[in-house]
Amino acid sequence: MALTSVWRDRHPVGPQGPANVAGDWDVVVVGAGITGLTTAALLARSGRSVLVVEARHVGAGTTGGSTAKMSVQQGTQHARIARRHPVAVLRKYADANAEALAWIARFCDEHGVALQRRPAYTYATSASGVRSVRSELEALHRAGVDRATWVDDLPLPFRVRGAVMVPDQAQLDPLELLEALAADATRHGATVVTGARVHRVHGGHGSAPHDVVTDAGTATAPTVVLATNMPILDRGGFFARAKPMRSYGLAFRTDEQAVDGMYLSADTPTRSLRDAPAPDGGGSLLLVGGDGHKTGAGTSELSHLDGLREWTLGYYPDAVETHAWSAQDYVTHHGLPFVGPILPGADRLLVAGGYSKWGMTNGVAAALALAGRILGGHQEWASAFDPWSSRELAGLPETTRLNAEVAVEMTLGWLRPLRSPGSASGLGEGEGEVRLDRVGTPTAVCRVDGTEHTASAVCSHLGGVVRWNDAERSWDCPLHGSRFGPDGQVLEGPATCGLRRR
Ligand SMILES: Cc1cc2nc3c(=O)[nH]c(=O)nc-3n(C[C@H](O)[C@H](O)[C@H](O)COP(=O)(O)OP(=O)(O)OC[C@H]3O[C@@H](n4cnc5c(N)ncnc54)[C@H](O)[C@@H]3O)c2cc1C
Ligand code: FES
Repeated sequence: MALTSVWRDRHPVGPQGPANVAGDWDVVVVGAGITGLTTAALLARSGRSVLVVEARHVGAGTTGGSTAKMSVQQGTQHARIARRHPVAVLRKYADANAEALAWIARFCDEHGVALQRRPAYTYATSASGVRSVRSELEALHRAGVDRATWVDDLPLPFRVRGAVMVPDQAQLDPLELLEALAADATRHGATVVTGARVHRVHGGHGSAPHDVVTDAGTATAPTVVLATNMPILDRGGFFARAKPMRSYGLAFRTDEQAVDGMYLSADTPTRSLRDAPAPDGGGSLLLVGGDGHKTGAGTSELSHLDGLREWTLGYYPDAVETHAWSAQDYVTHHGLPFVGPILPGADRLLVAGGYSKWGMTNGVAAALALAGRILGGHQEWASAFDPWSSRELAGLPETTRLNAEVAVEMTLGWLRPLRSPGSASGLGEGEGEVRLDRVGTPTAVCRVDGTEHTASAVCSHLGGVVRWNDAERSWDCPLHGSRFGPDGQVLEGPATCGLRRR
């Protein structure tokens, strides 16, 4: 079964016309995920001329692979923030997400986007899980989420030792939402160009505009928003503040609605559950997510999917699998998203990302904050997301550890092919390996659909050595999460160009 999310299957990408971005705009937004399209819709509604430039298609990034729970109840995220930051910051984080959820609900209501209201739970299956969930409940109360309560029993087919629950949260089809946001932005005069990758942004000194260089021409604008999840420009070093994490999703058809809420385990391996209406109105879908790990970790990605599949069928034996997929998000060192200037004082080159797998509301909050900043508005909570505040210091020990790991991985990546020079017998279908078959840099070799591809194994971002992903048949960089297709074409991450052809 080819890996594709249930949403992408429902919203196939139509033919794309020749892209051309040349022209002058008030704002160029790079990336058509939830952050970029919400920002574009907000700015276009306020009369700004907006260009959205998307490398692939609407929803091609993480949003199209999200489980799309929209909730202020986010696993154990509030406890994580509470351990590192004062309560004022914790409250701002919760307020931002509550405002984003209310904004989405209003938008869906006004634009006919289906949204289901559900309670959200973080549940424990072990004694240490109970301690984590208790801490989360306490952090939620400190954050002002008074509706969070403790629940002893849950209608799940396995033993649960308790959970924290927040009622009346929401879930939806993220691509239905993105299509409505793109249509709304376009109706208000924005232009959305797909199939055009941004390679560089230069200029912007003094009052000069920025030039946004893409493979479909150069767009010029005073203000640029990089809504690419991990910022594609290295200025600001955001790649060094967050860890790329891949996780997995499975959809199953069930005769009856299998779960009546949105569930997430506090224990690992993480298990996420929600339902979704079946597309043809027959029965229901059960969506199961989890088994996350650092991108390019070196364990078989297929084995993660198999683990999730086996776990689900153990508890829901009659469920029939319809889709399997994978996606990635960035987990920041200090638990908070970064939303604001790429460098201190660079008020016209803005970035947003680092949502720690909670970007459906955080991405909308980021868009509200960015649009407020550009239009001269103000959100009380936006300072919690400031990428250059002194709070960054709270994450320094974690950043140091993260970058020490990256340095070790960089060295190991270059040594690994020396230790295992590659199979002499050739590769089977769907296999890939890094070989040191010439003097200089290692080569990435794989066989997909009967064709053998070779490319440099050195990541075009900052020189990490890529590893083969056997589930998605891609080359994944363990350093900062750039990913490349079998032929070396860039798929996602901070890299903006592919692996060198061999
Ligand atoms: C498996 C999984 C499940 C999740 N489930 C949830 C959930 O239930 N609830 C929740 O709140 N969050 C969830 N998240 C997190 C959430 O989905 C993301 O944080 C959010 O979608 C990020 O949105 P974004 O718009 O910032 O990035 P993206 O959706 O990744 O959009 C970025 C866009 O930028 C484009 N781009 C990149 N580089 C360039 C370039 N050089 N030029 C032009 N375009 C470029 C990409 O193609 C992409 O379309 C989940 C994450 C994962 C991995
Ligand atoms: S993603 Fe940074 S080196 Fe590969």
